[in-house]
Amino acid sequence: MTMQDDIAEILVSEEQIQAKVAELGRRISEDYAGEELLLIGLLRGAIVFLSDLMRNLDIPVRLDFIGISSYGAGTESGAVRLVMDLETDIAGRHVLVVEDIVDTGKTLSYLIETLKARQPASLRVCALLDKPERRQVPIVVDYVGFEIPDKFVVGYGLDFAEGYRNLPFVGVLKEHLYREVLIRSAILRHMNGYLERELSLQELVDWATTTLAENDVSAEDEAFLQDLLARAGEPGSADFGLTLEDCAELMGRLGQELRVRTRPLVRAEGAG
Ligand code: PRP
Repeated sequence: MTMQDDIAEILVSEEQIQAKVAELGRRISEDYAGEELLLIGLLRGAIVFLSDLMRNLDIPVRLDFIGISSYGAGTESGAVRLVMDLETDIAGRHVLVVEDIVDTGKTLSYLIETLKARQPASLRVCALLDKPERRQVPIVVDYVGFEIPDKFVVGYGLDFAEGYRNLPFVGVLKEHLYREVLIRSAILRHMNGYLERELSLQELVDWATTTLAENDVSAEDEAFLQDLLARAGEPGSADFGLTLEDCAELMGRLGQELRVRTRPLVRAEGAG
């Protein structure tokens, strides 16, 4: 079994990528002729594209990296935060952010706002891949390699569970390889949503029922969801509910520890 056996189809071939990178390199070199450009690579997915792109630029470049992480579990992009900052002071410099893929746009939108505040001379974005269907935050991508459909892609820097980044092309991962991970992360998200009171018990139970009915879930996840429904009881009945022990046990099965925050009781002023 090789990595290639996990790929359902090649979406962008090695040759197509190399031709596009050369074309982008020419355009960027023309646009910044006579200037020095600071390339900022977004860790980690962008490094393959960045290392090819920079060798197709015939203007002087400098290089720096930034790390941004999303809180969202699994493949869903959630809120983002800076985990590794630049070493370079970008004030007064021409900056080009290099990214492997733009999905919801949350990462880039956060990054652009963060970098703009540091007053670069100019700030543009270059992304190899763009999934416009998935956009949640409107952003301008100045240089785009390929617009692609909403498929689960890996390779040329893009990963699944940190694997496949070293494939020389962009391919679609076979569905059975990621489905289980997606369902597990959805279970975690819904359990956390319930515990954080963003979801009602009825909504959690409805979601678990639909997931059991619609998805081809693994035996382990099926047992988990059935146990969740059994513990919750009959909607509408007097004992419809989950105890703290139920939640702790269920979360424990997902490898999560349930932490309960308590707030000290503050007495109203003047109260006895
Ligand atoms: C991916 C990708 C982008 C981001 C795009 O990074 O490299 O940075 O998601 O998603 P968005 O448009 O929805 O914000 P990921 O968090 O997977 O990290 P990685 O670069 O280390 O693979």
